[in-house]
Formats: sequence, C-alpha cells, structure tokens
Amino acid sequence: LEDQEAKIERLRSEGMEQGLPQCIIIGVRKCGTRALLEFLDLHPQIRIADMEMHFFNNDENYEKGYDWYRKNMPFSFPSDITIEKTPRYFISESAAERIRKFNSSAKLIVIFRNPTTRVISDYTQVYQNKLERNKSIDRFEDLVISERTGRVNTGYKAVRISMYYYHMTKWLHFFERDQIHVVNGDNLIDNPLEEIRKVETFLGLPNLVTESNVYFNETRGFFCMQSDDKQQHCLGAKKGRKHPAIDPIIVKKMNKFYRPYNKKLFQMIGQKFDWD
Ligand code: A3P
Repeated sequence: LEDQEAKIERLRSEGMEQGLPQCIIIGVRKCGTRALLEFLDLHPQIRIADMEMHFFNNDENYEKGYDWYRKNMPFSFPSDITIEKTPRYFISESAAERIRKFNSSAKLIVIFRNPTTRVISDYTQVYQNKLERNKSIDRFEDLVISERTGRVNTGYKAVRISMYYYHMTKWLHFFERDQIHVVNGDNLIDNPLEEIRKVETFLGLPNLVTESNVYFNETRGFFCMQSDDKQQHCLGAKKGRKHPAIDPIIVKKMNKFYRPYNKKLFQMIGQKFDWD
C-alpha cells in the first residue's frame, strides 16, 4: 500500500494540486445533498470534498484560514471543478457573506425538497440518532404543533429550516440569481440524471454523466451510482430512511402553513415546484 506522502508526491507529479472549491453546495439539509454530491462525483472533471467542511459557518474553522480549507480539498487538475458541500451554510448567519468575500464569482448550488417532507425527514434523522443513544424522544406532533396555539410551531428548528424563502433572501442579497443553481430534490430521487445534467450545464461542463452511471437498486429503493470502471455504489443506510406515519391532518396543516412561503420563494427565484 502506497503511503500518504508517496501518494501526494505522485499526484503532484501528475499535475494535480489541492484547489479551493469553485462550487459549493450550500444546502438544504435532508433534501438530498449527499446524493447530489455523489452523483456529481461520477463526472470526470468534478472533484468532491467528501467531508462536510463547516468552514464558512463555524468561526473556529473559519479562523484557521483559507490554507486550512484548501488542505482539506481533494487533488484536482487545473481544468477540474472542486465541489464542497455543507448543508449548514444555508441557514448560517455568516456563511453567505463570507463565501462572497472568499470568491464573489463562486457557483452555488441549493437543493430543495417539499418542505413538509423535509421536516419529517429531519425529525426521522434526529429521532433515530436519539434512539441509538437511548435518549427520550418527542412525538412528531408535539414538536410541530404548538400546544398553546394549535398552530405550526416555528420554535421547532426543523420547521424553520423548511421556510426556504427566509434563508434564500440572505443568499440573494450577496449573490446574483444566476450564480445560484436550484436543484429539485424530489426529482433527484426519481430522475437523478435529469437533475445532474442541469448541474453540468450550470457548471459549464459537458454532459458526461450518462445512463450507464446510474441504476435503480430494488433493494435500496433508490438510484445508485456506477462508475465508468463498473464499480457500483449506493448511499449508506442513513439515507433514504423509512419515515414514520404522520397524521394526515398534521401534514395538511403543515402544507397550508408553508404555502405562502413557497409562493414567495417561487417568485423570488423565478422557479416553481410541485409541492402540495
Ligand atoms: P430520507 O432519508 O428522508 O428519505 P441529505 O443527504 O441532504 O441528508 O438528504 C437525505 C435524503 O436524500 C434522503 O432522505 C433521501 O430521500 C434523499 N435521496 C435522494 N436521492 C437519493 C439516493 N439516490 N439514495 C438515497 N437517498 C436519496
């Protein structure tokens, strides 16, 4: 096995370096950010940072500087595009302004999914993490519906994250609309290639992720990836969890709650989604 230093030496001799990302997936948590990143990784000119860097949102990391950030990036050729994803950036108070300062012509990608489904997915993740640690679990309805008012509880963080309009306002304050590509997360599940093609175009890359790079895995119930050398790979068991059954009355209440925010979002981004 080649040791780490020898590997770096070899990559450098081949003309590769660790470059800062030109493209950042800024969120949204539970909308398919990992799937998006891994499908994009099938493209020969895309290099991905596997870890979520939490650079622009986390003061401690940010203070380590761009050099630290760069040293955590993958090796790439000068003509490649490096992509990093940290879903927390989307809701961060500082990330948008810092990314603009970092690279005012950066390309940003945000992925949205039906906001109600996103809350249920978010709840399911937190719920299962708690189960694993034997912690007590709140019922979905107790978190989402305020006991006092009977209305959707905006004090619950998962509810606020799905109010995409609010967060998006901040990004459009610092970036031009055409610097941000919006991915349809619901469609990414059913038709990943269609969404990936749009991202390739946005990044100015040729459409090189093809039918042969994706296949539907019956056992997983999701599309998985197949590299050009025929290596197959699905996302881990923590992606695509079974959601608990939620009372349809609550789902209806949530859909109604999100409708005006969605409408404003669609107007703001000039793009519509078939949510509800
Ligand atoms: P669920 O687990 O609620 O189904 P993120 O990576 O941002 O945390 O998003 C996780 C979500 O990605 C999953 O939510 C799942 O629905 C979605 N997803 C989209 N494409 C997927 C794929 N090919 N394999 C697994 N999950 C996928």
